[in-house]
Amino acid sequence: MNTRLGEGAIVFGLESSCDETGAGLVRIGEPVDRVDGIDGSDGGPAAAGSHRLELLGHQLASSSEQHARFGGVVPEIASRAHLEELLPTVHAAFDKAGIRQRDVDAIAVTCGPGLAGALLVGVAAAKAYAAAWGVPLFGVNHLAGHVAADTLEHGPLPSPTLALLVSGGHTQLLKITDLGRDIVELGSTVDDAAGEAYDKVARLLGLGYPGGPVIDRLAAQGDPAAVRFPRGLTGPRDRPYDFSFSGLKTAVARHVETLRAGGAEVPVEDICASFQEAVADVLTGKMVAAAMANGIDTVVIAGGVAANGRLRALARQRCDAAGLRLRVPSPGLCTDNGAMIAAVGAHAALAGAAPSAESLSANPGLPVGTVAV
Ligand code: KG4
Ligand code: ZN
Repeated sequence: MNTRLGEGAIVFGLESSCDETGAGLVRIGEPVDRVDGIDGSDGGPAAAGSHRLELLGHQLASSSEQHARFGGVVPEIASRAHLEELLPTVHAAFDKAGIRQRDVDAIAVTCGPGLAGALLVGVAAAKAYAAAWGVPLFGVNHLAGHVAADTLEHGPLPSPTLALLVSGGHTQLLKITDLGRDIVELGSTVDDAAGEAYDKVARLLGLGYPGGPVIDRLAAQGDPAAVRFPRGLTGPRDRPYDFSFSGLKTAVARHVETLRAGGAEVPVEDICASFQEAVADVLTGKMVAAAMANGIDTVVIAGGVAANGRLRALARQRCDAAGLRLRVPSPGLCTDNGAMIAAVGAHAALAGAAPSAESLSANPGLPVGTVAV
């Protein structure tokens, strides 16, 4: 089996780590030495072996509505939904991309981090496809996948790039020298993830699951200065690149309880806006500081929370002021999808990753530094 992938190769990606079943198809394009900057300017060197990627098509099925009444993802429900949705989702992705199954040169599948049972559905399916089609299989990291989503729209990352990864389960600052194989964590959350804070605050306000999109929408009609909620781990003695959101969530809960106990009406829009301001302020402040301190001039924001309107706007403002290049995927590619998994599989293969062994399994706690397994 020839496992070297190059220009023209097609990678099929499968995602099933949480509540979205995703399938995507990506074609490897031309090799790139230097990346695109802003307004056609030079954006610096790309990692060795970088190529452009072309998104051919992708399809998603979500079980989020089935979890809504529980206020969070129920693992057994998610696993069952993946089983039911996987085949139709895969077929729809191929139809959209206008690709036949026999055109695929490699398969990438999320093998972690995520929910064990949910991951297993994707891994088992990907192994079966790889065996049936006689193509190599790459078990890849979901978190690196989020960052790779950006390369589908904006080309290869410059080396190095600073990434702010903000999802439902993770909040991390990463130094990326080569997205296919060299990712180092500079800091992470010590308690809740940013998306988790959105989901918990939405729950206590009775707004349903997932919390991010609805808070984003309501916050746009509220006053971000209505309540000054705490900014976790921003004191002079705190570790500069770590995050904490559980104190913020508790502060919102206490504020709402106090209003309710006093019989006052809860100004939901103002609370959403004030909570969101605290999250965006901390995330962008630490991101810019980490880039400057590490001498990195390009930052990328990835993960579901990167779809957030206020985070995107404040990041733009602060990066412009600091002279940093900012890259953020379109909102539709920020949340979980199969295209980002195909993309990280392509980057890993191009960086020399060996295909996964037949014993490949799900690893719910896969560390972010392990791009391909
Ligand atoms: O990356 P993702 O799709 O799944 C994980 O890997 O966790 O992220 C999901 C998270 C959820 O917590 C959701 O509430 C949050 O991303 N999210 C948002 C927005 N859209 C999704 N948070 C803030 N604003 C949004 N627009
Ligand atoms: Zn995710």
